[in-house]
Amino acid sequence: MATVASRQTTEDDITNAVVKSIQGTPDARLREIMTSLVKHLHAFAKDVQLTEAEWFEAVKFLTATGQKCDNIRQEFILLSDTLGLSMVVDLISHRKQAGATESTVFGPFHREGAPRFPAGGDMGTADTKGTPLVIAGRVLDTAGKPIAGAELDVWQSNSEGFYDSQLDTRDTLQMRGKYTTDADGRYVILTRRPVKYPIPTDGPVGAMLNATKRHPIRPAHVHFVVAAQGYDPVTTHIFDYDDPQLREGDTVFGVKESLIVKFHEHAAGDAAAAKGAKVNGPFLTADFDFVLQAAK
Ligand code: BEZ
Ligand code: FE
Repeated sequence: MATVASRQTTEDDITNAVVKSIQGTPDARLREIMTSLVKHLHAFAKDVQLTEAEWFEAVKFLTATGQKCDNIRQEFILLSDTLGLSMVVDLISHRKQAGATESTVFGPFHREGAPRFPAGGDMGTADTKGTPLVIAGRVLDTAGKPIAGAELDVWQSNSEGFYDSQLDTRDTLQMRGKYTTDADGRYVILTRRPVKYPIPTDGPVGAMLNATKRHPIRPAHVHFVVAAQGYDPVTTHIFDYDDPQLREGDTVFGVKESLIVKFHEHAAGDAAAAKGAKVNGPFLTADFDFVLQAAK
């Protein structure tokens, strides 16, 4: 018969027992992920000597995070982003060839069904206060060859820092558009200057930022997914070089040096600078070439 001492269960016994219970998982990758997750979760609880009351608070927090999610609001993405996990996964997943455009967070504000625009078409008409911004350039491969027919899916907040899904008119798609490159790989987008904005703070993620004395601000940026047949798509942003928030930090850690772009000022009527976009009054331009790597 086993002695009392030999029947004592230790913290390590639990970890080993759970890991052993997973070893029959048929999917090898799922087995690897679950095994590592259990080991790290248990190690974390031991590291901080987690109390039952603290774990109960954590369960309440995660429950509230789930309850805040619906078809428009995605609090778990916000949590992943603000904990830097999204950028860690981004860096692991997108080890780019030299010269390919770097990726950054997708964020929770992308929507399907953005309207298609011809070159120079205005995706910013809903924003009557913003400064017009022409973003133009080419989509190239890593050898510098233009890619015709590449698609740019573009979205951003308005000049007051709100995405369409945060407005009373949330059912109407605004500040979004799809553009296609011409035979020389060129694209021209007309939009409005983006501004820095706070991510939503009226949920558990906001409470977490507040408790840890963190700011909720993202520096001014425009989102892109650029895709072409035969190439890996890139999910990325361009950031406004002149936004001081770039120096003060991004609450989701998404800034990469190569994505910071200077916006140049132009007087009304400078047709050459507008590259065919119909702009009223003074405007800004941003030049940016996207470089895609061939799909493996
Ligand atoms: C965004 O840029 O849209 C975004 C990214 C991460 C969290 C919140 C917003
Ligand atoms: Fe954004």
